[in-house]
Amino acid sequence: MTEFTKDEIIEILKDDTKNDWLFSLADEVRKKYVGDEIHLRALIEYTNICKNACKYCGLRCENRQLERYRLTPEEIINQAYNAVDIGFKTVVLQGGEDAFFSKDVMCEIITEIKRADVALTLSLGERSYNDLKAFRKCGADRYLIRIETTDRKLYRKMHPYMDFDNRVRCLRDLKSLGYEVGTGCLVGLPEQTIESLADDILFFKEIGADMIGIGPLIAHPQTPLKDAKNGSLTLALKVMALTRILLKDINIPATTAMETLDPNGRIMALQCGANVVMPNLSLEEHQAKYEIYPNKGINSLPLEGENSLEAKLLSIGRTISTGYGFRNKERK
Ligand code: 5AD
Repeated sequence: MTEFTKDEIIEILKDDTKNDWLFSLADEVRKKYVGDEIHLRALIEYTNICKNACKYCGLRCENRQLERYRLTPEEIINQAYNAVDIGFKTVVLQGGEDAFFSKDVMCEIITEIKRADVALTLSLGERSYNDLKAFRKCGADRYLIRIETTDRKLYRKMHPYMDFDNRVRCLRDLKSLGYEVGTGCLVGLPEQTIESLADDILFFKEIGADMIGIGPLIAHPQTPLKDAKNGSLTLALKVMALTRILLKDINIPATTAMETLDPNGRIMALQCGANVVMPNLSLEEHQAKYEIYPNKGINSLPLEGENSLEAKLLSIGRTISTGYGFRNKERK
């Protein structure tokens, strides 16, 4: 069993001479605990309207230059069915914190989507216990909400109007309601320390996360962080690799932010711990408007054919799973 202490994690993160060792260890752990299958999740970005003002995010309410859109419940349901028809076994609904999507509206959407044979992941931000309970009752299976950083001081700086404790409360509520829970962090926030990244990794373990998404910060020109340096892809991959080694059998996506920094970023991620890819199934006319950060994987690979995602995955010895891709295989 590989276990690292906080001090060891810090040492590994600071020292770049042992990266090859770290990445191959993460790849071995991935192979042993989750195998060679890649789980695909169809991502539907259904609204870019958001009441929050996260300093790094292009969807922040204070970005008046962004053209806003919101799909109707019917459009969302149709998009989900479309993804199921193509063969996806998981649909992810992701959106800004948009008040239009009240508990009742969401429950209607969830119930309709769950008529199909598909696992459903929600990624809609912070909600009350009651809302989360209602969504679960309608059949939602998983929920993604990154903690972003466990450094409280930095969290407060990056997230005006938001409260770290409420985010942790959401994660704990989700766990107690029986969701598979996803969280994660950004790598490369201004003033973020290596020590706090080590805390992030230990937090993922402590909270009992089933999925972890990690991405480098990408400076968005229409945000207060426009002059920030982009995060380091290598450091993000190292945080991801350590997460794999410590949490073992969880699901870890190769994130699009990694691909934005390097055209081969996602494949690199799949070779040092990741086992999930989330192709963007949003309507093309909206993809450019879901601009969390610039150049966000708009030209992602086709799903079939010579130059497809599948061909790329096969070329690195991996196959596409035909299952739902729960952490707990017995679940469905
Ligand atoms: N660069 C990288 N990732 C970002 N996110 C938001 N803004 C950026 C950015 N500028 C990430 C956050 C959020 C996820 C949906 O996108 O971590 O949780």
